[in-house]
Formats: sequence, C-alpha cells, structure tokens
Amino acid sequence: MATQEVDRPGPVTPGSKPPRPGRVPLVDNTLSMLRDPLGFYDRVGEMDADVVGYNVAGTTGYFVTHPDLVERILVTDEGDYEKGALLQRTLGEYIGEGLFLLEGDEWKAQRTALQPAFYRERIAAYGATMTDFAAEIGDGWTDGERFDVLPEMREYTLRVLGKTLLDVDIDRTAGALEPLLAALRERLDPRSLSAYVPLAVPTPTNRRVRSARATFEATLDDIIAERQAETAEDRAARDDVLSLLLSLDEATMTRERLGHQLLTFLVAGHDTTALTLTYTWYLLGRHPEVQATLHDELDSALGGADPTAEDLFELPYLDDVLTEVLRLYPPAFTTFRQPTRPVELGGYDIAPDAQLTIPQWLVHRDERWYDDPDSFRPERWTDAFDESLPDYAYYPFGGGPRHCIGMRFARMEAKLAIATLAQRYRFETVTEPPLELAMRITLSPTEPVDVRVHERA
Ligand code: HEM
Repeated sequence: MATQEVDRPGPVTPGSKPPRPGRVPLVDNTLSMLRDPLGFYDRVGEMDADVVGYNVAGTTGYFVTHPDLVERILVTDEGDYEKGALLQRTLGEYIGEGLFLLEGDEWKAQRTALQPAFYRERIAAYGATMTDFAAEIGDGWTDGERFDVLPEMREYTLRVLGKTLLDVDIDRTAGALEPLLAALRERLDPRSLSAYVPLAVPTPTNRRVRSARATFEATLDDIIAERQAETAEDRAARDDVLSLLLSLDEATMTRERLGHQLLTFLVAGHDTTALTLTYTWYLLGRHPEVQATLHDELDSALGGADPTAEDLFELPYLDDVLTEVLRLYPPAFTTFRQPTRPVELGGYDIAPDAQLTIPQWLVHRDERWYDDPDSFRPERWTDAFDESLPDYAYYPFGGGPRHCIGMRFARMEAKLAIATLAQRYRFETVTEPPLELAMRITLSPTEPVDVRVHERA
C-alpha cells in the first residue's frame, strides 16, 4: 500500500534527493504528521538517514539528524538560516517582537540588552526564591498522597517566573498569567481547530486567548505604573527582569515589545521546566536504584538542609540525572530553521523556502551515539563519555548564538526543586509505562502523570 512505502537511503550523487518516509499520494505526509507527529518522527528515525525529505501541507521540509549537520546549521553557518515561516506563523502574533523570533540586528540588540538578566551572579541571586517555592509546594503534600505531578510543577515554575520576571505577589501573577498560558497551550495544540485559523476568528479558544491577553496587558500596565511611581533608589534596588526592561531606552524597548518579551520568557520558560521536572519524577519513581543514589548524594552533601545555589556544585549525580532526563524527554523536542539562500546539507541541495526540522527527539535517542538509547541511565554521563560524544548529539537548549538564554536559569531552577523535594519525599510512579506523549508546542504527556509521595524518615 502506498502509505507503507518508505524510501531507503541510497548513495548521494549530484542532484539526488533525500529519502522520504511513507506517503499517501496527493496529501503526501500531511495526514500522518497531523494525526500522529510523534509516530511520524519515529518513522523518520527508523530510516537511518542523516537527511530525510517530507512534504506537509504543501511545504517541503527536511529532517536533519546528524550532529555535524546540526552544528553547521545552528553554529558554523548560522548566518544562512532564520527561524522561518512556520514559527512566525504560529507564534508571531503573540511574541513576534520577542527575543525568540526577532532576526538580524534587531535580535542582536535585544539579546545584548537582555543578557545581564541571565548573568551567573544574577541567577544565583534567584536561588533562594527557587528553593523556597519548591519547599512550599512540598509542604502542601501529605505522606502517601497520590496526584498528577504536572500541575504541581506548573504551579512551581509559574511562581518562580512571576517573582523573578515581575516581582509581584503570587495571587496577582497567577490571575494574570495562568489563564493566558493555558489558553495559549490550547490554541497552539496542533489537534485544535484554532491552531489553523487566525486569532481574529472567534473560536472559543481564540476568545479565551484574547481575553486572557487583555488581562495580562492590563496587569502589566498597572505594574509598570507602580514602578514609575517609585523613587529612583527603590527602582535601582530591584533585580527582576521587568526592571531591566524598563531601564532600557524607549527606542530599544517600546511598550509593545516589552509585553512580547515578557510573554516570550513565560512561554519559553514555564512549561519547559515544569515538564522537565515532571519527567524527572516519573523516571525517578520508575528507577528506585537511581532515586536511592540521588538520596544518598543529597543526604551526604546537604544533611537535611535546603539547598542553595552554591550547594549545586557538590551534587554531580543530580546534574547527571537532569542531563539524562533532558536527553530522553527534551521538552523542546525539535528546533526549526529555514535557509535564507540555497544551501547544501549532507550532499543534498536545499532551496531557501524549505523547512528544516532538527529534532532533539531523534538525535538524543540515536544508537550511533548512545548505548541502549531508550534506557534512563544517568551513569552514562562520565567525563570520558561526554568528551567522546559529538558536540551536537545532545542539544536540549539548542546551540550557537540563538541557544536558550534561560539555560542556566532553567537548570538551576530544576536542580534546586529536585534537591528540595527529593530530600523530603520518595516518589513512587503510579502511571504505568509507556508514558504516552504528544508533540504540542512542547513534548507533553497526554495523560496525567500520577505519582505517590512518601515522606522520608
Ligand atoms: C528546561 C527548560 C528549557 C528548555 C528545554 C529550553 C529550550 C530552548 C531551546 C531549544 C531554545 C532554542 C530554540 C531555537 O534555536 O530555535 C531556546 C531558546 C530560548 N529560551 Fe529556552 N528553554 C528552557 C527554559 C527557558 C527559560 C527558563 C527561559 C527564560 C526565563 C527561556 C527563554 C528562552 C528564550 C528567550 C529563547 C530565545 C533565545 C534567542 O533566540 O536569543 N528558556 N530554549
């Protein structure tokens, strides 16, 4: 049957085309991609080719899965690529003026202006906030309680972002942010009708997004007005991201752009870290031996005290656990780019309008680089292994100049939460494997991820 037809990679000769996964005539790969993107990615992975062609909704695209080619696109030749039409189309109306989507000189000016908010010392100062909020979340649980862990982790990361970005009271943050993030998740879900119609079309989801967006902007207006009424001294004492944005001149940071920047940080930093933590608890609960080793490390380094940013240097196994979680379940499961001129990749000629899909999901599970790639094995991350790994066989935070500006922030936030909560509780995973996943804006579970927590003596 035509749907089962799969090209095998052949020798690359001038003018030859990359192999393609099975396709239905006329609609090509569109149906498979819409119905089951994860299955489609996996079929591409099974083809064992470094470049694979596809056609979705009339757009020609290529999966690029060899680390050397990933490095060329993201780092060496990054000037030949942009984020591309797909991302602009889906995200542009909310965050088109934010760091994630800007291009060229405008992007460079914004990245330079925002970088100080993510300097090492600045982030270390957020450590106490991260630990305190994690402890508060844990204080709300009781011994033996069973619950879906993702909403709990979302609450944690939203509190952290509300405090570090805006420095406002949690109730105010939750009221303005949670409905907007939930509505955006709904709108950007490829299974929802709203993902395919302009925001102006009044579908129920679109109406929710617009009303939540208006509340967010109004709350932001209020907070900005309060800041402007403060003395210069009080303003200088603040270390949240909003105060940095407000200190920039009006030409660099218009009010519209300020809203887009904050929303960019929220969209990029909320679910990504909440999912990372959710996958961590799921995996630790399924691997009691890993959890026990982590407990031993925490007990001997911290002795029951809550962790500080400094303590993280003493917790190498925790670092390996997080690294391995992000390998197996990268919340940013793919990176998209579009060439701005004709390029050659893996011997194939690629036209400027092509969509490049550079999937962490496949590269991180490629058995050429990882032994037993589907297994959760933090122990694999020895220094020797790290050195032997091709640079871009692992890139959960992207790479090159457009790598995640929040990487250090996210890793610290996740590690402080894991250390705080794993000291208090042992996690038992109730949800049976396999964990069902969907490729939405981030790699998300389709069912509740239920855990049971047991107080540690
Ligand atoms: C585990 C958590 C996170 C993961 C896996 C992640 C992943 C990524 C990836 C893969 C990129 C590059 C995208 C590309 O090249 O197209 C990126 C960019 C970005 N991330 Fe993150 N991220 C995380 C957390 C955060 C946090 C906490 C923030 C902010 C508070 C943040 C803000 C951003 C921004 C602003 C960009 C765009 C940077 C630019 O283009 O200059 N991310 N992230």
